[in-house]
Amino acid sequence: MAASTLIDSFGRVADDLRISVTDRCNFRCVYCMPYEGLKWLKREEILRFEEIQRLARIFVEHYGVRTIRITGGEPLVRANIEELVGMVASLRPDLDITMTTNGVLLGSKAQRLAEAGLKRINISLDTLHIDRFQEIARVDAFAKTMAGIEAAEAAGLRPIKLNMVVMKGVNDDEVVDFARLARDKGYEVRFIEFMPLDGDGIWRPELVVPSLRIQESIEDQFPLVAAPEARPGPAVKFKFADGAPGGIGFISSVSQAFCDTCNRIRLTAEGGLRTCLFSLRETPLRDLMRSGVSDDHIGRVIESAIWAKEEGGALQIGTEGYVKPEKSMSQIGG
Ligand code: 5AD
Ligand code: SF4
Repeated sequence: MAASTLIDSFGRVADDLRISVTDRCNFRCVYCMPYEGLKWLKREEILRFEEIQRLARIFVEHYGVRTIRITGGEPLVRANIEELVGMVASLRPDLDITMTTNGVLLGSKAQRLAEAGLKRINISLDTLHIDRFQEIARVDAFAKTMAGIEAAEAAGLRPIKLNMVVMKGVNDDEVVDFARLARDKGYEVRFIEFMPLDGDGIWRPELVVPSLRIQESIEDQFPLVAAPEARPGPAVKFKFADGAPGGIGFISSVSQAFCDTCNRIRLTAEGGLRTCLFSLRETPLRDLMRSGVSDDHIGRVIESAIWAKEEGGALQIGTEGYVKPEKSMSQIGG
């Protein structure tokens, strides 16, 4: 198979692959998962490490994918996940491998992940208050999560990015505190608009805090300067005008969808290829792979799935045309 790129019918090139390694999670964040949990996939339904590595290899070697993000559910609840990180890292020395985690298990895992080849990390953190943490994540794990963030830092994972899903009346009074944390610790904080992908169906437009409002609150205290990037990504990034360390970014999926430059594709834990967070269908690769077909064959299926990537599901949020995908965030991989 000749090396090529994965291009869609709108001319976007997919080179950022998110791999969900489990649909399970040890948290129950209100914006993501119902308190009772979801119907979990069975063991045999989930891709084995060898299968994930094979698909990752096709994406990296044949299609020039440069970034692989390991997600869940919560990726660290999958046993021996550092082994998978090592298997993916071995595909290419300069591969950008990262992970999105709730951080609670990083205390015991961060060092091993870094040694296996993980380069950087995003940790979800929505509040700096212990009581509120319990209300949002619905587990009493604030101290352990904070210790996990410290462990990631000590293990040399850089930059440390914190993802905060901002919800009106829930945690929007903390955005300046998060900006202060970014400065004090040199972290990158990402403020994410609440998207209608929650398992409980609590999303309402009134709960979304537009990024511009957050930016105004922060700039009252800490003036910002734009930090544009060579390759435009979903986060609009800023540094502190006074030269303090750290930085902040806004992921305005609702108020300013970035679908026109989207370079992301996703693989679910059961091996479904999704071209958009909001896709209403996916391309199942697991059974195809298990039926013994060649890499070339899988490649052709991947190419045509990417070609059919939708213009952008986020563009429909809040309109009558919006149809919520059957899967919620934890089943897709954030
Ligand atoms: N809206 C926005 N972000 C979400 N995440 C999970 N659910 C939602 C949602 N409904 C984010 C979390 C986590 C990542 C995996 O996805 O912040 O960092
Ligand atoms: Fe778990 Fe992440 Fe969903 Fe929270 S957002 S319930 S940590 S998968």
